[in-house]
Amino acid sequence: MDATTSRYAETYAQALRDPEGFWAEAARAIDWYEPAKKVFDASQGIYGRWYAGAVCNTCYNALDRHVANGRANQTALIHDSAFTGLVSSYSYAELLAEVKTLAAVLQDFGVGKGDRVIIYMPMVAEAIMGMLACARIGAVHSVVFGGFAAKELATRIDDSAPKVILSASCGLEPGRIVHYKPLLDDAIKLAKAKPAACLILQRPQAPCDLIAGRDHDWMELRGKARAAGRSADCVPVLATDPLYILYTSGTTGIPKGVVRDNGGHMVALHWSMFNLYGVKPGEVWWCGSDIGWVVGHSYIVYGPLLQGATSVMYEGKPVGTPDAGAFWRVISQHGVVAFFTAPTAFRAIKKEDPDGKLIGNYDLSKFRTLFLAGERADPPTLEWAEQKLKRPVIDHWWQTETGWCIAGNPVGLGQLPVKHGSPSVPMPGYIVDVVDEATKPVKTGAMGSIVIKLPMPPGCLPTLWQNDARFKEAYLTEFPGYYKTSDAGYKDEDGYVFVMGRTDDIINVAGHRLSTGGMEEVLASHPDVAECAVLGIADQLKGEVPCGFVVLKAGVTKSPAEVEREIVALVRDKIGPVAAFKLAITVPRLPKTRSGKILRGTIKKMADGEAWTMPATIEDPKALDEIGAALKEKGVGRA
Ligand code: COA
Ligand code: AMP
Repeated sequence: MDATTSRYAETYAQALRDPEGFWAEAARAIDWYEPAKKVFDASQGIYGRWYAGAVCNTCYNALDRHVANGRANQTALIHDSAFTGLVSSYSYAELLAEVKTLAAVLQDFGVGKGDRVIIYMPMVAEAIMGMLACARIGAVHSVVFGGFAAKELATRIDDSAPKVILSASCGLEPGRIVHYKPLLDDAIKLAKAKPAACLILQRPQAPCDLIAGRDHDWMELRGKARAAGRSADCVPVLATDPLYILYTSGTTGIPKGVVRDNGGHMVALHWSMFNLYGVKPGEVWWCGSDIGWVVGHSYIVYGPLLQGATSVMYEGKPVGTPDAGAFWRVISQHGVVAFFTAPTAFRAIKKEDPDGKLIGNYDLSKFRTLFLAGERADPPTLEWAEQKLKRPVIDHWWQTETGWCIAGNPVGLGQLPVKHGSPSVPMPGYIVDVVDEATKPVKTGAMGSIVIKLPMPPGCLPTLWQNDARFKEAYLTEFPGYYKTSDAGYKDEDGYVFVMGRTDDIINVAGHRLSTGGMEEVLASHPDVAECAVLGIADQLKGEVPCGFVVLKAGVTKSPAEVEREIVALVRDKIGPVAAFKLAITVPRLPKTRSGKILRGTIKKMADGEAWTMPATIEDPKALDEIGAALKEKGVGRA
């Protein structure tokens, strides 16, 4: 397929010419209790709202209607745990029955429309049931990734004030059991907002104690509710009502509560399942992310179920569970047609099995396309995947905020030529520009800030949870008329977008988005630290890893090595293991400009072993020599 035979150009042009007509047509694939009064109402919300006045239910569209329309016995969800070796599957009818029961249990705790429910769970099917049960009764879920520590969970509890928290006794990581319950208990202690109840799923690997009066055994309540024939009906909500809040790293330690609505989200995800990913109802799709990330929300849970496909949920790693053939095993065992993961997973596989020998052990005949996102797909990794899999490998670019792809290569509409290093072209509804500081579009091929013209298409965030001011300030103020992606890059002569890196302090560690500002807050809280800077430095496996430079207070008697160890432990304790913060380096001072700005760019170049020049504005060039010496001592870079 080439650019002339793909339906991409005409589809994109149609959405540009008549956005309301385009999205009204796409909305026909969804069942509504009441249609929209206005497909796009510019007078509502901060930059307008999609499907204003429409009434719907996301759970109904993900489950009930498929059961009603002949998919009752089709598998909706396959849970495959490489840690336990167990595979379980749920038909659409079975999943619906579970969700109806759990939704009734939630209602028993007084959870209703608009109430928040936090889900702090490992990759088990019950987590998905929890999400759908909330959607069913109009409650707003907020899933918190299991790799975050108690303090991060507490921040999210305080911001969203959940009535109920759904959790589990433990998660499984290679070589260790993650005990969730102590983290949950600590978080509730730390938080000012206290949930009325916690539902705890006891896993056999490590059951936990329950606090009387607050904690309840999930399966016990499920059993009782089932025996009593309890079941909750779908609660109609407005298309513009929130479906979920998902917290993501901002430029401070306080995460941003990205809000997702019901109507636009359903339309956009449904549209993407075939037009972008080429997946039809009834086919098996696998997204190898975690439900704690937006990729997991959209493409483990909502996208495939809205489409009537079968979704695989995988509890395991690309390598070590048990080997670098784990992905191929899952694809062949379940007949996966398309798979979505992060480039870092492929870097891990490539490292363990550089010749891709394990691929040959599996029947991948049903497998058509690999999709990558979450971080820039570096061309060597992408090429390796193409060569070894002998199938299209499609990079696509998006953010927690957008909820679905901004730029990609639409396989369903007809795949366009792949250009390594680019996630390809804007999806319908996204007008992507590259601009300078004055919001003036730069020339083709020139680097600038990547921005999206307002209004954004359905599915994208309407605001931040109870914080319109921060939404405006963080995304809409710097480039008037546009949404700021905080990514930098360029467009080429064919309109392909190249996304090269962030313009803020966010770093991308193994496809996980983390704030260096947030880590600096933790480092600065250590009693022996006078000053600090955290930056992302290049890492062959994870793309980037954080590296903290610290200046100790005068008179500190501990050795630098001791303080460094304490700092590493502090970040793990306050943010969580997912921060992958393992490198702290003590330096006599931080190199700064004469106006006092830390020379992060130069330090990063030194740490990455790249060529660097002495900045003309430097206060004292010797400070960089000191950084060089410290890096050398730790064996970082070539400095
Ligand atoms: N609960 C508790 N801890 C978790 C966790 C979870 N859900 N997920 C990860 N962690 C821990 C890991 O065990 C690890 O701990 P450690 O420091 O004790 O080793 C730490 O957090 C860092 O995890 P991660 O960055 O995932 O590194 P890893 O070495 O365990 O695995 C990869 C590396 C590349 C295999 C892994 O990152 C991966 O598969 N990434 C896929 C990316 C992805 O899913 N991205 C989502 C967006 S698409
Ligand atoms: P998250 O919100 O966690 O999904 O992270 C979003 C950020 O990850 C983006 O702003 C980019 O910086 C980066 N990102 C995601 N996908 C890609 C991609 N395909 N190419 C380049 N960067 C990406």
